Amino acid sequence: MVTINNFKENKGKKKMTMLTAYDYLTAKNIDEAGIDSILVGDSLGMVMLGYPDTLSVTVDDMIHHGKAVVRGAKNAFVVVDMPFMSYQVSVEEAVRNAGRIVKETGCQAVKLEGMYVDQIKAITTAGIPVVGHLGLTPQSVNSMGGYKVQGKEKEAAKKLIADCLKLEEAGAFAITLECVPRRIAEFITKKLHVSTIGIGASNECDCQVLVWQDMTGYTNQPAAKFVKRFANLYEEEIKAFTEYKNEVENMTYPDKSHTYMMPDEDFEYAIKEYK
Ligand code: KIV
Repeated sequence: MVTINNFKENKGKKKMTMLTAYDYLTAKNIDEAGIDSILVGDSLGMVMLGYPDTLSVTVDDMIHHGKAVVRGAKNAFVVVDMPFMSYQVSVEEAVRNAGRIVKETGCQAVKLEGMYVDQIKAITTAGIPVVGHLGLTPQSVNSMGGYKVQGKEKEAAKKLIADCLKLEEAGAFAITLECVPRRIAEFITKKLHVSTIGIGASNECDCQVLVWQDMTGYTNQPAAKFVKRFANLYEEEIKAFTEYKNEVENMTYPDKSHTYMMPDEDFEYAIKEYK
């Protein structure tokens, strides 16, 4: 079973893998493929619940999906996102919500976005491992003015490096870097003692994460530059749905092989009184 120790041991030696999942079966498949870690991202608001962004996601949503993922993950290390407004208001609320997430889902760690140093200190002190998240932080989409590469400009890059060091100091055991230029991600990865988890932050990070619907092509929505489609599940699924509709309409499905049969005498007995 992958633990927090694997992140420490593999740092600078072996690249690690993480994918998002939001349900039992996907988690089981990801786990069976040997992916090291599963993130129950608040991206579930967009890819599972159809919201325009992650802001509407609640702690209850995260717990509902987190529980299902934990049931499917036998080996992978499961991280659950803390949703918008579950940690920003106060340290006390942050610890209470992180505790609920871990207790009720059985996950191994939580992730939170931004410079909430006191919250990270308090949650780790409570014995809950924390992943930080810097660069593009989708919960701040309104203040960033959209989903854009972060840390490109020299002052912003300098601040990003300083912020990563502060999160490490606060106790984060890993930091997600989203949409960050390669040179900065590489520098941060070498500078930190803890792991970096990259998404749109080059192959220099210690671990990579992608949203599973993006990387399997389960959606035909336009993808960000950093996404690679490793399959085309959208086309496969549309093909299956269309064939199903055609076969039902022309009665080639279900055929005999999909049908339960019954001996004539039992059938005659069953219907005799109702003829
Ligand atoms: O919510 C999410 O899926 C994430 C990843 C994009 C890192 O935070």
